[in-house]
Amino acid sequence: MNPYELRKDFPILNDETLCYLDTAASSLKPRQVIERLDEYYEKYGVNVHRGVYNLSYVATEMYEEARRKVSDFIHAKFDEIIFTRGASSALNLVASSYGLNHLTSEDEIIVSELEHHSQVLPWQNVSHITKAKLVYIPLDSEGRITVENVKKVLSNKTKVVAINYISNVMGYITPIKEIISLAHEVGAVVVIDAAQAAPHKTIDVVDLDCDFLAFSGHKMCGPTGIGVLFGKKKLLDNMPPIEFGGDMNDNVNLYDASWKDVPYKFETGTPPISEAIGLGAAIDYLLSIGLDEIGKHEFKLKEYTVKKLKEIEDIIIYNESAETGIISFNIEGVHPHDAVSYFDGDNICMRAGHHCAQLIIKWLNVVATLRVSFYLYNTIEDCDRFIESVRNARDFFKSVGF
Ligand SMILES: Cc1ncc(COP(=O)(O)O)c(C=O)c1O
Repeated sequence: MNPYELRKDFPILNDETLCYLDTAASSLKPRQVIERLDEYYEKYGVNVHRGVYNLSYVATEMYEEARRKVSDFIHAKFDEIIFTRGASSALNLVASSYGLNHLTSEDEIIVSELEHHSQVLPWQNVSHITKAKLVYIPLDSEGRITVENVKKVLSNKTKVVAINYISNVMGYITPIKEIISLAHEVGAVVVIDAAQAAPHKTIDVVDLDCDFLAFSGHKMCGPTGIGVLFGKKKLLDNMPPIEFGGDMNDNVNLYDASWKDVPYKFETGTPPISEAIGLGAAIDYLLSIGLDEIGKHEFKLKEYTVKKLKEIEDIIIYNESAETGIISFNIEGVHPHDAVSYFDGDNICMRAGHHCAQLIIKWLNVVATLRVSFYLYNTIEDCDRFIESVRNARDFFKSVGF
């Protein structure tokens, strides 16, 4: 893949001074996705599933075609794909529907300190309500989830294992296939947060045999406001809706009602139509490049940057061995928010903070970290600009006595 050619697809990169290193928060959007959104709004722009006129049929076809693209993308079946507002709402759906209706005080839910708040907080809530026990996988010395450590906490009491595929802070790839297989041996279901995986690596839910998997559109060249929940059909069939209203119902009586089949019983009201269509276009775009090519490119940039970062004094890197394009680091003695403001002065966009993952920040025993995250449009020149800015920032803060 040629990032220099791909950059031309991203209108925002017409500003050649922009150095965008915050894809883990949200990716930039290519022209192909923006044009697809425009097409929907300019030519159709109406509701789906309800209008008895041609425009609505076409809009419905576009929306459902997007579901087909998503299901093919992760090798799922069409009716195993639920459109949500984002990965967070997808993970909340599983916790509120499956968790609250299947767990009791006898049960255990396994999570880790490496999770985004969107994966840990819904299960904390389930634990508070059902009294099921929340159990943490001990992380290894690098902060990774390992198969060995999962074995230490897995038991016949485990009913749910809720973990990430790729950590948004450390960039580690979790060995989920082995963990899923072990969890199934004790009868637990596994919920995978793939928000940082879907944009960067091929996912095959059949090969993984995972029960639920969630991701967001906006981190993978798609629009904001759209996410995906995959669930095995037999599990989804036995889960109640958590939102009630238009379109999700079948027959409505005075005191009760029945629901449509999955996925529609979980998609209440007017769905995110343009957003789903835009996500379909993003998937086409990513597949035309190749997910694994993208992942390799980001890793190469990360390796190059880590090597250069290590040549600068006072740099602490927290995830040197990450297999992906994420670097978490600090400049010793400099608050990450001060550092990131300095980088902003050089038009370099990156993230500082706890990255909605306070547990791993506490585990690292720091207040916050700086995070760089690469994508298909980043180049060696971006890395060099970033390194130069870090060197200057370090010298500046040291010179003023930090
Ligand atoms: C690992 C991980 N999980 C979940 C989320 C939540 O995604 P969203 O904000 O799109 O719902 C994020 C977003 O940063 C993430 O990085």
